[in-house]
Amino acid sequence: MNRPGRNDPCWCGSGKKYKHCHMAFDDRLIAERDLGHEVPDHSLIKTPAQIEKIKESCKINIAVLDYVAEHIRAGVTTEEIDQWVFTETQKRGGIPADLNYEGYPKSVCTSVNEQVCHGIPSPDVVLKDGDIINVDCSTILDGYFSDSSRMFCIGNVSPEKKRLVEVTREAVAKGLEAVKPWGFLGDMAEAVHTHVEKNGYSVVREIGGHGVGLQFHEDPWVGYIGKRGTGMLLVPGMMFTIEPMVNMGKPDVYTSDGDNWAVYTVDGLPSAQWEIQVLVTEDGHEVLSW
Ligand code: MF3
Ligand code: CO
Repeated sequence: MNRPGRNDPCWCGSGKKYKHCHMAFDDRLIAERDLGHEVPDHSLIKTPAQIEKIKESCKINIAVLDYVAEHIRAGVTTEEIDQWVFTETQKRGGIPADLNYEGYPKSVCTSVNEQVCHGIPSPDVVLKDGDIINVDCSTILDGYFSDSSRMFCIGNVSPEKKRLVEVTREAVAKGLEAVKPWGFLGDMAEAVHTHVEKNGYSVVREIGGHGVGLQFHEDPWVGYIGKRGTGMLLVPGMMFTIEPMVNMGKPDVYTSDGDNWAVYTVDGLPSAQWEIQVLVTEDGHEVLSW
């Protein structure tokens, strides 16, 4: 860990002397590290100024998802959703973060039924009565990133699929409750998978959430299998997504060798996902995008 001298400016950019700013914080971080815990690098701790900028990006992301919520219905193609996201993001001064990300060809991910994530919008995918769909939306505003996703039920959805969507949403809420400063990422993970498994579903293991804000995908990687008291220490200023993919059947998934993006359940049963962007605060957490 890079520590300034007591009277030197703090690494956080506050302009205060280190001894009046993050010195005691770093002492605590080092004590936790000495206990064997994984602690965050200073680069993962956002400054108040950065948080303000990221929140502006999140406002656009939320507005775009609200737009999708108002217009999505049976008969709409996922291609149309892509056009909405592109237009509504640009209208508000943002850029869809998905577009051209590692060669991704569209502005949003639209994952229907047994698609787990990274479904590519297409004019051939027409939403029909009874479908469930995840719309995963990410925005860049002046270089600051936001990322969240919602599930939508199209028309008359079976009680089984509705329950999957609802339990997944509850799991995210339970995970969120477990997010607090000086807690651990594993506290959140345990809360998520416990709720999922109690309801007879499974959590996808190999795909998780991520740090976010200054880049699209930052450390830490955020899985949902972990145990309480393990995983990275959480401290104020950290920001990450909680975005479990919950399968009605088995947890196994595969990536389409057709488009190399879309992920599907191996057993063909439906999968659901909600994603929120969370900030760890001095006294708990704040949801910035949902
Ligand atoms: N929005 C996704 C996430 O939650 C990432 C999508 S990357 C893309 O992390 F390239 F597929 F768009
Ligand atoms: Co994400």
